[in-house]
Amino acid sequence: MSLIDPHGGRLIDREARGAERESLLRASAKMPELTLNAREEADLELIASGALSPLEGFMGEADYVLVRDQKRLANGLVWTIPVTLSVREDERAKLKIGDDVALRSRDGRLLAVLHLAEIFKYDKELEAERVYLTTEEKHPGVQAVYAQGEYLLGGHVSVIEHARHNEFAPYRHTPRQTRALFAERGWRSVVAFQTRNPVHRAHEYIQKCALETVDGLLLHPLVGETKSDDIPAPVRLRAYEVIIEHYYPQSRTQLAVLPAAMRYAGPREAVFHAIIRQNYGCSHFIVGRDHAGVGKYYGTYDAQRIFGHFEPGELKITPMFFDNTFFCRKCGSMASLKTCPHDQTHHVSLSGTRVREMLTAGEIPPVEFTRPEVAQVLIEGLSRLSAKA
Ligand code: ADX
Repeated sequence: MSLIDPHGGRLIDREARGAERESLLRASAKMPELTLNAREEADLELIASGALSPLEGFMGEADYVLVRDQKRLANGLVWTIPVTLSVREDERAKLKIGDDVALRSRDGRLLAVLHLAEIFKYDKELEAERVYLTTEEKHPGVQAVYAQGEYLLGGHVSVIEHARHNEFAPYRHTPRQTRALFAERGWRSVVAFQTRNPVHRAHEYIQKCALETVDGLLLHPLVGETKSDDIPAPVRLRAYEVIIEHYYPQSRTQLAVLPAAMRYAGPREAVFHAIIRQNYGCSHFIVGRDHAGVGKYYGTYDAQRIFGHFEPGELKITPMFFDNTFFCRKCGSMASLKTCPHDQTHHVSLSGTRVREMLTAGEIPPVEFTRPEVAQVLIEGLSRLSAKA
């Protein structure tokens, strides 16, 4: 038995190499240019490595509209989040269909060439309403859409260099590399865990419950752009290393980073996250409470329910659902609303804001909430950040 197939059956590879890369580099001097934003830079890296298979570039209009309205690509495959490249009117005026366009990073490096196939207008409010389920600008994902240019560019990309390839280098594994690592370790079934937070006891509990039934765990934190009040990725990375060292079986745990930006699109992003992890070779994907949520825009378990919208087999990766988990003093263990019969007064639960306050004040949260080794790393990391600010 081999690992799960990528979404759509084939792992895309849009890295330009050898002679192709040389000739694109030479030609780029005369190409029209665009500078990408952080999210577009991240999407480009994901497309290049096949993490967004079957996408080979930024979406054209048929894919964009169908994804927005029906959660599918034009070829019928399930897809829930638009992957787009926007331009303003003045930038669009310099481009024409059929151009090769040089895509540059925010610090001016040549990252890729876009083979421009389509230029189209789109309705930002409609995208907000259908994808994010709100048109409020307070929503960080919606805010990003509203801040974009008025036109979208569609076309395949040939990637020359990655924007931040030195950052988290030891953990920056491509889907081909994670697949090779799983195969080397003899893992057939692998559960992936998406996170934008440090691993607290609730996260650890659901990961380990899942690991009881599969061969390996891919701890796969997202390290692209997140909200400013989320804990920065470098601090989180150190916390992941420490918790793995002290509490996880090395032979069944793999840490890697996902260089994607958070959209905070709740249910739709949960499906997107699952598809990406399938491309990385994972057979299972954890979806707990409020997956990829923000504020009060989504119901606690909406990100689980959305999976029921698709026919069996349309998604090859299997979602594993978990109810809200916590430490119960009466059970004397971690538990969830599904497994604990006691009322809330026995449960240790803290809001993210409260935990952040404690850590910033140098206080260690209760051991029932966070492993002390992790708390120590977070306290140190946050105090270094506030010293820098
Ligand atoms: S997310 O934006 O990446 O989803 P977070 O890092 O908080 O945010 O969550 C990672 C995963 O753990 C998600 O699947 C989320 O649903 C799940 N999760 C987080 N906390 C809990 C909890 N207390 N109980 C159950 N699931 C949880």
